[in-house]
Amino acid sequence: KQITLLGVPMEEGAGRRGCVMGPAAYRTAGLREELCALEYDVDDLGDVTPSPVTDIATGHTHLKYLPDVAGWTRALHAHAHTLAQKDSIPIYMGGDHALSLGTVTGHVAAAADLGRPQYVLWLDAHSDFNTPQTSPSGNMHGMPLAFACGLPGFPDLLGKPLPATLDPKKLCLLGLRSVDGGERALLQASGARAHDMRAIDERGVAALLSPFLDAVARTNGLLHVSLDVDFIEPDIAPAVGTTVPGGATFREAHLIMEMLHDSSLLTSLDLVELNPFLDDRGRTARLMVDLTASLFGRRVLDRFTSSY
Ligand code: ARG
Ligand code: MN
Ligand code: MN
Ligand code: MN
Repeated sequence: KQITLLGVPMEEGAGRRGCVMGPAAYRTAGLREELCALEYDVDDLGDVTPSPVTDIATGHTHLKYLPDVAGWTRALHAHAHTLAQKDSIPIYMGGDHALSLGTVTGHVAAAADLGRPQYVLWLDAHSDFNTPQTSPSGNMHGMPLAFACGLPGFPDLLGKPLPATLDPKKLCLLGLRSVDGGERALLQASGARAHDMRAIDERGVAALLSPFLDAVARTNGLLHVSLDVDFIEPDIAPAVGTTVPGGATFREAHLIMEMLHDSSLLTSLDLVELNPFLDDRGRTARLMVDLTASLFGRRVLDRFTSSY
């Protein structure tokens, strides 16, 4: 049982600063130690450095920090493509959600090399399905899924066309409660399995997640999970720049992690949008570490029974 940690101190994709401190907060909150306690071999590779970019200009675009984001995307795509070939599960410690421009495309490209289907579970208040044309903000953390699915209108972040694109039918989004007009139309036309908070209220996370995990298992798929802090209710996870009320509860979030662990399907993980500058005595960083521990096999019940 092996895990590789990779820090991604990027914040240029988000609308406000602070995610640069995310990897340090995960280390301070003891992510490595918690995974070691679950008997994993954990290798922390340190922080990624963005690739130098000379071929993308800043002007003529409303995409914010485009050359910086391109540098991160290129470096992360290459890292993910390499890490996907190892017998170790990579955890990308963000950093804002624009890091998935590189991680998701890297894992999709590696899966195509292997001839196996790549699935993505997106746990987020937002669908991050904007293209440069539909984005109201120009913030690139709102665009990684549209980019990975090969939607048109993006500048040349990784070479055109992409080495492989994510099939939206292999994408499941859970927790949606803030979707922009243009991206909503694209998302609904895409064929992705998209579940908003109302669906969670009516049917529960288990009923929504099970058929997706069954599809991954049935087709011998690879599973990338992208966990945005704002998926969770902001009352318990305040350290994020894009809070939206009405998020997943503590128990819903842990149940998803426990189901993922029981499935044994996870092959890579993004932890994104943690902004330690906005945290309350480290509670959000600790919650994210606890959720990750659940995902890797810690059971809440064991923890409580053993401490009484
Ligand atoms: N949809 C909004 C935008 O495009 C917000 C995106 C928030 N994304 C995130 N990864 N927090 O600007
Ligand atoms: Mn997001
Ligand atoms: Mn390849
Ligand atoms: Mn979000």
